[in-house]
Amino acid sequence: MAKFIIQGGKPLKGEIGVSGSKNAALKIFPVALLTEETIRVSNAPEIEDVFRAQEMFAALGGEIKKIKPGVFDIKFKNQKCFDLPENLVNKFRASIMFVGPMLVKCGKVNFPHPGGCVIGAGTRPIDMFLDGFQKMGAKIEILRRDSGQDYYHLTAKRIKGAEIFFPKITVTGTESLMITAILAEGETVLKNCAMEPEIVALAEFLNGIGAKISGAGTPTIRIKGVKKLRGGEYKIIPDRIETGTFAMLAAASNSGEITIKNAEPNHLEALWSLFDRIKVNYVLYKDRIKISPAKKIFAVDATTHEYPGFATDLQPPYTVLMTQAEGKSLIHETIYDRRLIFTDLLSQMGADVVLCDPHRAVINGPTKLSGRKLVSPDLRAGAALVMAALIANGKTEIDNIYQIERGYEKIDERLRKIGADIKRVD
Ligand code: EPU
Repeated sequence: MAKFIIQGGKPLKGEIGVSGSKNAALKIFPVALLTEETIRVSNAPEIEDVFRAQEMFAALGGEIKKIKPGVFDIKFKNQKCFDLPENLVNKFRASIMFVGPMLVKCGKVNFPHPGGCVIGAGTRPIDMFLDGFQKMGAKIEILRRDSGQDYYHLTAKRIKGAEIFFPKITVTGTESLMITAILAEGETVLKNCAMEPEIVALAEFLNGIGAKISGAGTPTIRIKGVKKLRGGEYKIIPDRIETGTFAMLAAASNSGEITIKNAEPNHLEALWSLFDRIKVNYVLYKDRIKISPAKKIFAVDATTHEYPGFATDLQPPYTVLMTQAEGKSLIHETIYDRRLIFTDLLSQMGADVVLCDPHRAVINGPTKLSGRKLVSPDLRAGAALVMAALIANGKTEIDNIYQIERGYEKIDERLRKIGADIKRVD
């Protein structure tokens, strides 16, 4: 298994670029099932999760033509109507996004429970997706296998518009039902929707190729069914989680001026509001953020929340940042109940962390961190461990970096450009 070897404590300075958003890129492949015309995707991150989405797309009969790095054409001509390949569904949560379009195009779809980061109790549930598909006319059969895993059989003679209220805000759930409704008969109204920028970007693209979606970015989205979609170009928005992670690395390292390029600062207002209170020295430009060393940074409590609140995906790097801040901070993780477990690894590196319960941790700072041998538990915690290793004294080895490379393109190369001593070994 590949690992990172990091010599911590090197001063970091210079410019670092942000890739296209992972969570935006993943969703364009299922969307492409809905049109026979070509979609040109640009600014796509070259990461493991996107490769898995491409493999799923190809397995279902899609064609992918690479134009240059980050740019490719995708097209569906001969849709294959069979079960979603189990080995791929098991690997990434966003595989669930293929279910709606398969139902629309094939009238049936079979698939096992999707995989993804282990950050919630048991497997992450899909009840709200199933409920939505049912309201849109699908018949659902669930088989429990001997292994305990659920296997789903969905059939639908036709998909029709429906009024659906999400009991809990769900990002992929909102996107999934939004795209399923595009070619449905009649109007669909989705209520209590997620409002993430990736959803707005997807809806704007879809409207550009013939969909009739209004209200994306608000709690109520209306979709009027249309007969056909065209092709078009989908330019993927900058990854806001990567942007925020680099910004927090700059603030935690506090060793030199770092400029984060190709970013969309407007998507991170919750983080900037925390930075104001922590007293991070930062300036926002149209597509860049400049972070300069501060005299001292201060501990500030943070609570994760659906967008536009403070993103759960930014909680692990924020927790690392707080180990370097003066005072006591309470981190309240409200979305997932396994996303604070990685703080045990920070304690092993010398951080003063009290894990009160699965949702709350208290950090006492500042503390010096020291290098350790670690295993990356999941994507965002893995990135946070890289950050901790870069500011720690001594050498850290991080194993299982597949988990990190699922979401961050050539992270070692980019960090080396700002002065990090990080090596990737196979
Ligand atoms: N939930 C249910 N039932 C459902 C769906 C979700 O109970 O049918 C619960 C989840 O268990 C969780 C909450 O609702 O407690 C929110 O989950 P959500 O559905 O919003 O998460 P997601 O759509 O599966 C996306 C991102 C995650 C990010 C979350 C929250 C993608 C592919 N994933 O997940 O990204 O953490 O939204 O913002 O878009 C990551 O990139 O590392 C990552 C995990």
